[in-house]
Amino acid sequence: MNSTPAKVRKDIIQRPKGTQDICGEDVERWEYVESLCRLQLQSAGYQEIRTPIFEATELFERGVGEGTDIVNKEMYTFEKSDRRLSLRPEGTAGVVRAFVEQGMGRWPKPVKLYYLGPMFRYERPQAGRQRQFHQFGVELFGLDTPAADAEVILMAMRMFEKLALPNLSLQINNIGTVECRERFKTGFKALLAPQLTQLCADCQTRYQTNPLRMLDCKQDSCKAIYAQPTVKAFLETDFTSEDCQAHFAELVRILDALKVPYQRNPYLVRGLDYYTKTVFEITSTNLGAQNAVCGGGRYNRLVEDLGGPETPAVGWALGMERLLTLVGDLPKRTLDFYIVHDQPAEAFQVAEALRASGYHVEVDLSGKGFGKQFERAAKLNARQAITIGEAEVQNGTIRVKHLHSGEQQATTLTDLLSQLAPAKQP
Ligand code: HAM
Repeated sequence: MNSTPAKVRKDIIQRPKGTQDICGEDVERWEYVESLCRLQLQSAGYQEIRTPIFEATELFERGVGEGTDIVNKEMYTFEKSDRRLSLRPEGTAGVVRAFVEQGMGRWPKPVKLYYLGPMFRYERPQAGRQRQFHQFGVELFGLDTPAADAEVILMAMRMFEKLALPNLSLQINNIGTVECRERFKTGFKALLAPQLTQLCADCQTRYQTNPLRMLDCKQDSCKAIYAQPTVKAFLETDFTSEDCQAHFAELVRILDALKVPYQRNPYLVRGLDYYTKTVFEITSTNLGAQNAVCGGGRYNRLVEDLGGPETPAVGWALGMERLLTLVGDLPKRTLDFYIVHDQPAEAFQVAEALRASGYHVEVDLSGKGFGKQFERAAKLNARQAITIGEAEVQNGTIRVKHLHSGEQQATTLTDLLSQLAPAKQP
């Protein structure tokens, strides 16, 4: 009988293109940032929501928009029992679906939610652009006030300040309502009609279907056309209604009062179809071509478009991978105690008592000699080692050694705990 296992093909043990394993020291950085984001939002009354990773394809077609690159080119779609399903390319559509399905329209307003998880877009991978990436997002439902816009923007900016992200710029714009955009369409199309044939194929299609989205084009030749003084001047004269303009003016007033720096960018239209009024993006020049770390805006029609009650909403999502490339050194988790022993039961008892007081403790599991166990403690950069041998068990003591100073003392667990308790709370 041949006992050699079949050779594993190399591609089977390679992660798919555009995905990442998050492990080792990286995972500690992820956990640190995730918990900072969570705490920031929880402290302002936001509650977590966890929705499925896949949803009906139509949800994204109707939600994100059939004319968008995300839906047209980037979705991972599959069929099961005659149902078309897609891995979520973003979080908002699923959260809105849950809002409608769970009857959150009846909850006290505003409903303030946050989420964290993997998203999937079939894009050409490059620095800062992956096929599986993670978003931390926020959605606030039930209010159409500039204060609601200001609060979500402020949440992101304050989080980024705490993480000391470098070279940030908050770009904001007002794209008005569907009605405002009808006015925009007429003027913008007339202005660009003479140059229509010089635009890329996508822009020529958008010219017919959704001219505002032409401004989202990444082709240099199209960008040059939109940068012409006549087009720029057209974009800078606000095409939105008095109500939308007043909403935006109040948002800007709040940001000014809070000393949140921003730039109004008339070219900022975002790559998803659901936005109304306020849109924004937070970029960093340290990120390269994919420079947006966070993007969002108001979407007052989406809940209704997806079958729910009329509910204005505003939110954003940040890309965790991009955020983490901007975050510098973070405090490392320290190992308070390493337990060196040949008495497992007593070692675990001591470890459990210390952990219950909030300490980070590891017990040696190797069964090797004390010398090797001390080497391991040093390798893990433990602050102190506790030795428990037969003699210690017999006389009810433990030996504590500070690994940096080399200082040692014999004590009891009770004495150690009473010494330590004031220094660190669980
Ligand atoms: P988005 O601008 O498509 O908006 O994505 C938000 C953020 O996700 C981006 O700013 C970026 O940091 C990150 N991101 C997007 N695609 C990738 C990728 N392929 N690789 C790495 N990171 C990426 C939305 O998704 C909206 N749902 C945001 C929102 C929430 N609007 C209202 N509420």
